[in-house]
Amino acid sequence: MTSRLIFCSLLALAVTGALLTSGRPAAALDSDANASLIARGQYLTGDAGQCADCHRPNFVGGPNLVPGPPGAPWAKTVPSLRGLKMFANDADAVAFLHTAKLPNGQTALRPMPHYNFSVPDAGAIVAYLRSLE
Ligand code: HEC
Repeated sequence: MTSRLIFCSLLALAVTGALLTSGRPAAALDSDANASLIARGQYLTGDAGQCADCHRPNFVGGPNLVPGPPGAPWAKTVPSLRGLKMFANDADAVAFLHTAKLPNGQTALRPMPHYNFSVPDAGAIVAYLRSLE
């Protein structure tokens, strides 16, 4: 009788423990992590980085309105950043924001700044800009 009681108590403890430690399903945690990554990317491109000063509100791109020194290589247009369609994959986009180097080893034309975001910050920016259609 006593051993049965102990067994049942242990079983109840095990079930409670499993319920407490499992928490929410992994998918919900993943989507929370993704949402906070995107929120950080929005902050870094917005209030912090002010990419829209050149890339236009909502990052739609357009003509480059920043005047450059005469004769110097200078961009005529500013690309749309929505979806980051100029990069074939996320790794190239993260590398560009981390090292300022494009996949061909060159830097973008000025006045695009030569950013050196940390890899996690570059990843957040890429996640956010990719989330825009
Ligand atoms: C001072 C103006 C300016 C600011 C601020 C700016 N950009 Fe740019 N960006 C440019 C210009 C101009 C180009 C086009 C360069 C070229 O044609 O080579 C460009 C190009 C790019 C490209 C495409 C690179 C390529 O050649 O494929 C990306 C990605 C980019 N910018 C991201 C950003 C992000 C992210 C921010 C903010 C953190 C930002 N830019 C802020 C001016 C700016």
